Amino acid sequence: RDSKRLVVVSNRVANLNAKAQTGGLAVALGDALSASQGLWFGWSGETSVDAKETMPKIETKGDLTVATIDLTPEEAEGYYLGYANRCLWPSLHYRLDLALCNEEHANIYFEVNARFADNLMPLLEPGDMIWVHDYHLIPLAEELKRRGCTSRIGFFLHTPFPSPEIFAAVPHQKRLGDALMRFDVVGFQTQSDRENFARYVCGFMNGEELTGDLLTAQGQTTNAAVFPIGIDVQGFANLAAQGDGQPSLLPVAPDGDMKTIIGVDRLDYTKGLPERLRAFEALLEQYPQHRRHVRFVQIAPPTRETLPVYQDIRREVERLVGQINGRFGDLNWQPVIYLHRPFPQDVLARLCRESAVGMITPLRDGMNLVAKEYIAAQRPEDPGVLVLSRFAGAAEQLREALLINPHDVNEMASTLDRALTMPRQERWARYNRLRQRVETYDVTNWRDSFMQTFASSDADPVNVF
Ligand code: G6P
Repeated sequence: RDSKRLVVVSNRVANLNAKAQTGGLAVALGDALSASQGLWFGWSGETSVDAKETMPKIETKGDLTVATIDLTPEEAEGYYLGYANRCLWPSLHYRLDLALCNEEHANIYFEVNARFADNLMPLLEPGDMIWVHDYHLIPLAEELKRRGCTSRIGFFLHTPFPSPEIFAAVPHQKRLGDALMRFDVVGFQTQSDRENFARYVCGFMNGEELTGDLLTAQGQTTNAAVFPIGIDVQGFANLAAQGDGQPSLLPVAPDGDMKTIIGVDRLDYTKGLPERLRAFEALLEQYPQHRRHVRFVQIAPPTRETLPVYQDIRREVERLVGQINGRFGDLNWQPVIYLHRPFPQDVLARLCRESAVGMITPLRDGMNLVAKEYIAAQRPEDPGVLVLSRFAGAAEQLREALLINPHDVNEMASTLDRALTMPRQERWARYNRLRQRVETYDVTNWRDSFMQTFASSDADPVNVF
């Protein structure tokens, strides 16, 4: 090995064996790990009562090593379902109204981070570059450094970083803010996330902005920069094109006059699904010419199902789907096709290619890769139209999409009408610019630019590849 070893730490570790299900992110990280004979460390996704007394499970896959630990049932409850997903997730998505903070859960969150550090320390080598992912593991740099780790440690936040007034209201925000400053690099999806963090550091931690991307507070300095995440554009485009020349995946209307609007989202309250369904209902109500000529396909795989708010959103979505189909549907036309399960990437890619409109309208989202996948999947000669929430991180880059306010049902309905009737020339002009930007900021660019910043903030720079 002629470069520094990369160590990736994340709550979930991708299953690199399940090729058809593996997204571009996992592959891009897997490739970088293999190139440096690296290590991927995380939770196995399993619980066991003796987890605290068990050594990490270590597997080698080609040039890359995967090490996982189980959590005890109490740990999974307090750390993953509790503080991470009932307190941090809603807060980071501007939903303080849904944030529940139980002291016991918060303590377990910090304890599990300490246990990650305990288990990771013996696996580290001097000079490793440690790249930590997402809100589950904010305290990890602090815990590793407390144990004498001298490696560079970087962090990437996949979710939004909310405005400082929101972040300041999160229970234990001070500990989180201090912990973030212990990373050498803190990466964000968008300029506005980075600005929010800088405003938090300056306004609430007595810190200041230095030159470049540096921020300093309470004796700690970190490089806070923007790295918009992307996809494997050609890979997804190839999957989408596999269906060309084959029968449609969706029923074909007798007169061939049926357009599809598609949405693909985990069934999460941040995704704006009820508002999106109401917008589709308003389209059928206010633009009757589309009745029997349009359908809305919503793929919504289950997520975090044991939490009550996720059960509530599912009930609401399913009630709306029934309401719209009952009210507008006909013996031979079902307006909404709602599928509450995961689908393989190739099916999703083909569905995106078959759909005239991609409807990606989260109330808040870190980036939203489905927006980028929808663009990658289009037929260049006859592309569809992307209707995108201005509160998705992707909106900062995908400015030629039809940007909407996901709370405004009527605006979304009229935008859907505009998308469904947009002339080919305009669709093509918008698509071309979008496609270029999705290609430039792909997943390899994301990984490499993070790694470059990471390496250049090293006191003793060594080629990372
Ligand atoms: C978001 C988070 C990820 C998380 C994913 C799925 O994209 O940023 O960290 O892995 O949701 O959620 P889950 O709770 O199933 O891991």
